[in-house]
Amino acid sequence: MAGTPDAAEIFHAKCQLCHTTRQVTPSEREKLLGPPVEEVMLKVKEKYPIREDAVRFIADYVRAPSIDKALCPSLDRYGLMPSMEKTLTKAEAEAVAEMLFDTYPRGTVNKPASRKK
Ligand code: HEC
Repeated sequence: MAGTPDAAEIFHAKCQLCHTTRQVTPSEREKLLGPPVEEVMLKVKEKYPIREDAVRFIADYVRAPSIDKALCPSLDRYGLMPSMEKTLTKAEAEAVAEMLFDTYPRGTVNKPASRKK
């Protein structure tokens, strides 16, 4: 299912602050705390096209981020994502991961130039 309301709420409350769902202008981009969700999911799906693998990756990553696991080329810009281990249970992380896989990318946000395919 394309994300329970719960997962969307969790994302809104705990992720969206850093991972905007909106299209950003270049000046807005400079103030972002993390990469837009659209870009994150493009990256994740490139590496993990299969839903199960992507969900496992995301659910693990958000509770234990590390440089070794990171797929994002923007690490230098934003620094490593803080661990959400204390704010998110494993089940919540999985629910959010499923919702993200089913929802993004929407294709409505400009891809960074280097990622245009
Ligand atoms: C305090 C800011 C912040 C919050 C809150 C946050 N993130 Fe992140 N996230 C980042 C940053 C910065 C990166 C890019 C660096 C990295 O990959 O660690 C990132 C990267 C990611 C990535 C890509 C990892 C990769 O391979 O590089 C995923 C997936 C992700 N976040 C999911 C989430 C989810 C889901 C939540 C909510 C449960 C969340 N984030 C909350 C800052 C945040």
